[in-house]
Amino acid sequence: MTSSADPAVQVSGLTKDFGATRALDGATFDVANGEIFGLLGPNGAGKTTTMRILLTLLKPTAGTARVAGQDVTRDPVAVRQRVGWVPQGHAVDPLLTVMENMRFMCGMYHLAPVAARRRAAQLLEPAGLADHGNKVARVLSGGTRRKLELAMSLVNVPAVLFLDEPTVGLDIAARRDLWTYVRQISRQGTTIVLTTHYLEEADALCDRVAIIDRGQIQATGVPGELKVNYQASTLDEVFLAATGQELAA
Ligand SMILES: Nc1ncnc2c1ncn2[C@@H]1O[C@H](COP(=O)(O)OP(=O)(O)OP(=O)(O)O)[C@@H](O)[C@H]1O
Ligand SMILES: [Mg+2]
Repeated sequence: MTSSADPAVQVSGLTKDFGATRALDGATFDVANGEIFGLLGPNGAGKTTTMRILLTLLKPTAGTARVAGQDVTRDPVAVRQRVGWVPQGHAVDPLLTVMENMRFMCGMYHLAPVAARRRAAQLLEPAGLADHGNKVARVLSGGTRRKLELAMSLVNVPAVLFLDEPTVGLDIAARRDLWTYVRQISRQGTTIVLTTHYLEEADALCDRVAIIDRGQIQATGVPGELKVNYQASTLDEVFLAATGQELAA
């Protein structure tokens, strides 16, 4: 049984070993319905591994995780029906046009051609891509390409959307433009879990964050509250303290 009061994501004691490497070590956190939640941590901390388990692309070694009320190990098909994903790196076909990329994704979800055209148009408009439909993805700016990837991840109307470093490599104007789009997706009722190495971005965009280091959650909370708790003026300082690193002079 699931209810709308259930958290969108429940992670408990999640552990993942890759051979001798323990990528996740008992990670525990919840994401509430409708939140924009940031998973923050140094390179190799276990962020992508966590996302891949929540997306049912990897099996945990131990622990449990539920997404949109479904258990990732027991009901992976039900989880996949309820999630969207924009992976770290690129997810569009550069040789297809914007519209062809959208319709390809609609085809993956078995939408008939007429429904696919309608759905693609519905998703391109709020992404600000309505006028780019006939452009090949290769010629798009980094920010516009990223918005296309987000629009493609919404085809199945996911309850929970996972964005792995959505703004990496984008200039500040393109990043802010993407934040606006992410907030808009959030207002439609989609829960969003994202990773980022830009901590001012997490501060501006996320309702709550978790800081993960060496596979363990070191801190979880509202950015403003974390700053108070750590007597820090920025989330960078919270991050460095929570991950046992020194502030550079
Ligand atoms: N398929 C794999 N096989 C072996 N080791 C892996 C595999 N995937 C991840 N790891 C290891 O697990 C640890 C966590 O990696 P992960 O990719 O989850 O980190 P991350 O927090 O996403 O880092 P980044 O910020 O660099 O993207 C690292 O030590 C990584 O080398
Ligand atoms: Mg990663």
